[in-house]
Amino acid sequence: MTLGDGLRMTGSRKRKSDEPLSSGLAIRAKASHRGFGRDASDVEIDDRLASFIENFCYRGVAIDEAGTAWSLWPTAVRYEDGKSLAAAVESEAAESILEIGLGFGISTLFLALGLVRSGRRSGGITAIDPHQLSRWRSMGLRIIEEAAVGEWVSFLSERSDVALRRLAKDRRTFDLAFVDGSHRYLDVFNDCLGLQKVVRSGGLIIFDDFDETPVKEAISRFLGQGGWRLENTIRSERADGTASRRVMACIRA
Ligand SMILES: C[S@@+](CC[C@H](N)C(=O)[O-])C[C@H]1O[C@@H](n2cnc3c(N)ncnc32)[C@H](O)[C@@H]1O
Repeated sequence: MTLGDGLRMTGSRKRKSDEPLSSGLAIRAKASHRGFGRDASDVEIDDRLASFIENFCYRGVAIDEAGTAWSLWPTAVRYEDGKSLAAAVESEAAESILEIGLGFGISTLFLALGLVRSGRRSGGITAIDPHQLSRWRSMGLRIIEEAAVGEWVSFLSERSDVALRRLAKDRRTFDLAFVDGSHRYLDVFNDCLGLQKVVRSGGLIIFDDFDETPVKEAISRFLGQGGWRLENTIRSERADGTASRRVMACIRA
């Protein structure tokens, strides 16, 4: 049985309402005793957020205000890639995160999960998307609110090049950036140029869709500038053991 395109359960039986998804069980099972300075409310938020993500991804659709159902995929990050994203935030102990491309907000939820898991939810996520309020009918923002992480997210309704210029002018810095915005070569290259001014030295930038030629070529052209190098690529594993279709690239200066 295929759930969206990212989650897969074996067999064709229906899931009972109280039965955790196999992959979801994995994200919740690890949740209890991790992180720096986690308190009881972190553990509770972790459980609640992990369940929310799990159920949302299981359904695989978002409903807009007019009642129209939108498939999460292929737009949103896949469940297995989202788990890798949360793990990266946790292992980086990132507090301030910048996201380019809010879309349905699924990656934002995983970034938030990483913050809770490292006991650093006092940090926050700044998310940029020029089409959220129009083309995306605010669905990402509504999903984030529904997941009760809205107060951790500052939203900028602008193109990334414009927002990055202003953030740099305001001397804002971030520990980690996740990029899943425009996938055009020049836009990705400009994102790289803008991000190098706001991601702190030693910070990490994670690009989604490194398997797409324009994305890969733009990042490859940028590498070497200001000491930025490819640290690793991530091809996540799905619940059934097969590899994700997507590759993420992590670069660091
Ligand atoms: C693939 S979707 C992001 C999906 C999101 N990561 C998720 O998991 O739901 C790409 C997003 O980038 C946004 N976008 C397109 N051009 C952009 C730009 N120049 N700056 C910032 N975001 C942009 C689109 O509006 C869209 O929401």
